[in-house]
Parts: sequence; structure tokens; C-alpha cells
Amino acid sequence: MKIRSSYATIVSHDGRAITIDGHRRVLLSGSIHYPRSTPEMWPDLIKKSKEGGLDAIETYVFWNAHEPTRRQYDFSGKLDLIRFLKTIKDEGLYGVLRIGPYACAEWNYGGFPVWLHNIPEMVFRTTNKAFMDEMQNFTTMIVDMVKKEKLFASQGGPIILAQIENEYGNVMGPYGEAGKTYIKWCANMAQALNVGVPWIMCQQNDAPQPMLNTCNGFYCDNFKPNNPNTPKMWTENWTGWFKQWGGKNPHRTTEDVAYSVAKFFQRGGTFNNYYMYHGGTNFDRTAGGPYITTSYDYDAPLDEYGNLNQPKYGHLKKLHDVLHSMEKTLTYGNISTIDFGKSASITTQTSMMVKKPNKAEDDPSTLKWSWRPENMDDFLLKGKGESTKTQLVDQKVVSNDQSDYLWYMTTVKFRKRDLVLGKNMTLRINSTAHVLHAFVNGKHIGNQHAENEKFHYVFEKDAKFKSGRNVISLLSITVGLQNYGSFFESVPTGITGPISIIGRNSDETIVKDLSAHKWSYKTGLNGFENQLFRTESPSKWSAESVPLNRSMTWYKATFKAPFGNDPVVVDLLGLGKGTAWVNGNNIGRYWPAFISSGDGCSVKCNYRGAYHAEKCLTGCGEPTQRWYHVPRSFLNAGDNTLVLFEEMGGNPSLVNFQTTRVGSVCANVYEKNVIELSCDRKPISAIKFASFGNPDGNCGSFEKGTCEEINNAVDILTQECVGKEKCSIDVSTEKFGAPDCGGAARRLAVEAIC
Ligand code: GAL
Repeated sequence: MKIRSSYATIVSHDGRAITIDGHRRVLLSGSIHYPRSTPEMWPDLIKKSKEGGLDAIETYVFWNAHEPTRRQYDFSGKLDLIRFLKTIKDEGLYGVLRIGPYACAEWNYGGFPVWLHNIPEMVFRTTNKAFMDEMQNFTTMIVDMVKKEKLFASQGGPIILAQIENEYGNVMGPYGEAGKTYIKWCANMAQALNVGVPWIMCQQNDAPQPMLNTCNGFYCDNFKPNNPNTPKMWTENWTGWFKQWGGKNPHRTTEDVAYSVAKFFQRGGTFNNYYMYHGGTNFDRTAGGPYITTSYDYDAPLDEYGNLNQPKYGHLKKLHDVLHSMEKTLTYGNISTIDFGKSASITTQTSMMVKKPNKAEDDPSTLKWSWRPENMDDFLLKGKGESTKTQLVDQKVVSNDQSDYLWYMTTVKFRKRDLVLGKNMTLRINSTAHVLHAFVNGKHIGNQHAENEKFHYVFEKDAKFKSGRNVISLLSITVGLQNYGSFFESVPTGITGPISIIGRNSDETIVKDLSAHKWSYKTGLNGFENQLFRTESPSKWSAESVPLNRSMTWYKATFKAPFGNDPVVVDLLGLGKGTAWVNGNNIGRYWPAFISSGDGCSVKCNYRGAYHAEKCLTGCGEPTQRWYHVPRSFLNAGDNTLVLFEEMGGNPSLVNFQTTRVGSVCANVYEKNVIELSCDRKPISAIKFASFGNPDGNCGSFEKGTCEEINNAVDILTQECVGKEKCSIDVSTEKFGAPDCGGAARRLAVEAIC
């Protein structure tokens, strides 16, 4: 693989391929989104990417994270874009900068700040003056920052490509002529920024020159850029898929990813970017959706925690080596078809990850909890907020997305003989709240959340109203704002109504519509405002009679960081829904009580045929997400604090910390191949299974077949591998003997314990 030289790198394309320093290149790239990991993780992730055979790292830039309030910027910690780009540079890799600034990416609101939506007359992604001004302002600022640090390849830096907009072509129909004008404006605006490297527009088959139109999808070998004089490029090869609350674990097989890449280059491709190479974690409130989970593992070659996801990582690494070795032929040669038969097959290890208990705790399964209730008195009993309106207002408009929580409150007065008063009374709410809790006169009458992606539903529960004054308090909770689609910014959130009280007397039903009542609004919850999640929070916590299954409850416990460097996870099984913090760091929303449906999983996953996101699913009938990543940098050597805010009611007594790493590695390889086993920088401790002949089964469940070697494979492998971080095994009859398998090709199956 060629590594970028330290002198100025000139990037262009000659129609056939991206060229660097005058050479046509086969470029392999992978997406890593900097805020989905921590700066402490970046060097290792990027190093592993390079070892995996990548030439480049790609990232989006997330506008709402950097400009949370208009003209107030944040580039600290996980948001230190420049530090991330410099880490890429330090590792000698190229960078691809997708400024967007629309990102999609299952990121909250697709990366747009909600204040942008709340500018009067605003419409996103069209010829709307206010939008274009803001988009230009942010894009220019990012370009200037990057230029100042000399990070574009034209300045000798790592960035070889920049992107403007994102897949606008997929959604532009409803924008009509204005959409076409907008995309031309985007191209001119970007071009005028003089970055000195090519700009790409993905999924944009009317991309104006000199924009490079690129492809996104599970397969792009059939893709032809709109301008035949531009290279064939694949900006998003989806290595797996994302997950939603209530959904299952996606899995795209290694064979299918590798095949798609090989076919792409075979048919004249020049640039392939894996989306994602490392998916990571949606910390805090960054998950989009609605309903994107906190984990953004994506079944990517590097798993959520940064561990190698085998065999995906190893298999693709071998493919990359082959592609790089053929760079000249692939980029200068003519296409012809040669059948290499089986000789081109790839052998790589698989691995099974294990979670180990936290050995730093004496009794890891029992944390000592203290608790306190969320104080809601002002809202439940007084119905008192901070602003009022005589209508129901979209949650985004009121809250500016400063919180997931918004209270909608009103009071209703009934005369003694009001006809609606009676025995059978209900409160009916037409809701687009992602989660809704309803209270009448301080009493919780029920909660509801969207099921099966139906975010528009009717909540109707029995409620007791009395003569005189009644208080209705509704808590609407967002779980990630819409991130995709035409005009996605105006998809309603919160309680848009109508809301009514329904009374059923012996022979009539009386409906009292409350939609135009005076509604009082309050964004956020008290506990968040008082920062109960901070370690040093002075508020009172009680260790007495810690409640179980109590909604709107704060829990707190201290724990010791697990020994070593292996990634740390916290098991939140038993809890309902809420948010978790470690030492004040928000590790994301949790919702283990959301169980996926029991159907749609496949025991056997067949990679043959085209992949789609519902193929090869696992985790049916299980909690959507049980383990939550706690980056090592959030922990300290002494006592650490875990704080939970539980909305729905749960049992924290099972919560415990674990470490995750590779537990065993396996191979299943035909003779005349060489296989390398490695425990990811730890020594191999034992050989659990080895058989040369026709063994059966899969990693973790291998069994001997009907023919076997004379030599003892376990002994041979023990001698060659145990105690070493890596071992390379020549699978030959000289080494393992020549069992009679009736003429069929012999295989070595091995499982090594790490
Ligand atoms: C694409 C989009 C990406 C991501 C992906 C699905 O359409 O460009 O940002 O959302 O889908 O993971």
C-alpha cells in the first residue's frame, strides 16, 4: 500500500480514477464519525483501520453538535474535528470530509440544529434565503478551520475529497424546480470555497460539473456517474445496518460485503468507502430517528467498542491487500473476465466476543443504590410552566430541542352538574409524542409509546375528573428527531392534538375538546436542571427503601473501574427507559424494556443472493439494547459514579459492569492454505478443539467428523500457538497427516481460547 508522501499531494481525477501525485489509485476508505467515540479511542481506531488495509477515513461534520445555539460553537472533546483529522494525518491516512451540512447518518435531526427550524419562514434544503445563508455560514466556517490547519491535500494535508449535501437526489422530487436550483447553488457555493480537492455529491444524478456524483448502497457495481468523465466512486458501502428501539440486530455477512467490493473494482470502481468501518455509540441525545438506539455498532468491521469484528475485519483486510497489489491493472487495464476458480478464496479467523464480570468489585453483581424522586409537583398539581399558548404547539418549536422532555399542562373547570362529569370518563390524546405520560390531578393515568414505527397514535385512558378545578399534565418525550426524507424538518413531534375529555352517560357521549385551551409549557425536568447526574451534586439521596418499578426516579451508585484496558460495558437489564451517566458523562438513552418481536430472525444465515436490512437478523424477542458502552476515558482509578434517570419504572438491582473482549478465535480452512490466529494483542491460552479431516459445526460448536488425522492436531497447535499473540499455521498433510476422507478435500477446524 502506498502511503501519502509528506510533500504536497495533488489530487484530481482523470475520468477513470482518482489520481494522487499523478497516479491512478484504488482507494479503500472507512467511515468513523468522531463524536461516536472519544478522542482517546481515535488513535487506536485509526491504527486498526490502517492495519485493516484502508487508505482513508471518512467522516461527516455534525452541524447541530458544533453550533448548538446560533453562533455559539463547540469543538471540544469528542467534537474536536481538527484533532480527529490530525490523528488521521498522523497515521498517514487520507481523509474524506463530508461537510453536508445535512448528514442524515441516523443522527439527531440529520445533523441540523433545531434553532434553524425555528427561524421564521424556514424551509430546509431548498432555495430558501435564510436556510442558504445559514448553510453557507457553517460550511464556510468549517472549510476555513480546516484550511487554517492546512489539512486539505492541496495544502499538503490528508483530505483528498470533500462532500456537499447528502443524497439529495433521493428526496428532491417534492422540492420541484426549486430543488434543481438549490443543488446548483450548493455546487457553486462549495466550488467558490476553493478547497483545491474535488467535491463529491452522493446519489445526485444531476450533479453539476465539476461535482463528482457518487453511489451509496449495498451494491454499486452497476453504478454509472452522470458525467462519463468522472470516476466510479462508492461513498457508502453499508457494512451492516442501524438499529431502532424495538428492532433486531442487523447482520450483513462478510462474504456479501467482500463480494460487493470485489465486483465494484472489477467493473471499474476506484474508491470504496465502508459505511461504517466503526459505527460507535450515540452518546447523550445524538441518536436520530425517531427511535435510533444508543448503540450504532452497525455490524461494522470494528465493533461498537473498537474490537475487531471477525471474520469481517480480517476477510476485508485480505481483500484490500489483493486490490492494492493489483492497483495498476485495475486502474489502467481493460476489463475482461477470467475464472480463477477456488484459488481466490480467502481464509480468515472468526472470533467470539465474551463479557467478563468486573473483577475490581468484591461482589460485582450488587451495587449499593441510593435514590430520589423526580420533583414534579409544580407540573402535576399546579400545572405551572414557563410559557403559555391557546393551542397545542409542536415540541421542537417550544423546546428548541434543549431536552427530550416537554410538559403540556392545562386546567379544566367543571360545574357540579356538568354533563360530561360521570362514571365513565376518559382522556383521549391524538399524539405524535415518541413517548407520552399522562397525569390527571397528579395521578399517573398511563403512558404509551409508538409501536411498529407508528409515531401517530391515539392514547385513551380512564381518568377521574371532579367538579371544580382539574389539572391535566402531559409529559411528551422525544427519542431522537427525524433524520431523513423530503421536508423531514416538519414531521410533527410532541402532542399536536386534538385532546379531549370524553364522558359517557347512560345514553350519550359528550366530548369536550381541549385543543384550544390555554396550555402551559415547560421544557425539561427538574432533575436535569439541577444536574443530579453530576458526581458532586449536593442534592439529597436516600439509601433507605430503594424503590423498584417506580417511574420518574433517580438512582445512584458508586463502582470501581474494571482492571485492565478492555472496553467497559454496563448491563442495564431490568431497567425500563431513561438516561444513564458515568461520572457526569451522558452515555446515552437506555430502553432495555423495549423487547423486539419474536419473528423475523434466521437461525441459519445464508449469504447467497442480494442482502437487505431484514436478512440474517438475530435478537428476536430480546431487549433491543442491554449493554451500554462506558469509554475508558470516562472512568477514573478511584470511585466512579453511575446515575440513572428511570422514566418508566425498573429494577436496578441487576445492573453491573463488565469488560468485553475476544473470548475465542476459530478457523475452518481447507488444506493447502495458511491460516493466522490471533487474540487481538493478548496471548492464546489454550486450544479447545482441533481436527483435520471433515469436522462439523461452527465456531463454539465444532465436532469431529468421520475421518480424522493420525497426528494429533490439538498437540501440534498447542505447541505452535499457545502463549503467543499470533500464530500462522500451514494447513498441509505434511503437518497434520493424510486421513482418508473418501477423496473429499480435507479441512482443519480449530477453536483457540484467548
Ligand atoms: C444513507 C445516508 C447515511 C445513513 C445511511 C443509513 O442514506 O446517506 O447518512 O443514514 O443511509 O445508515
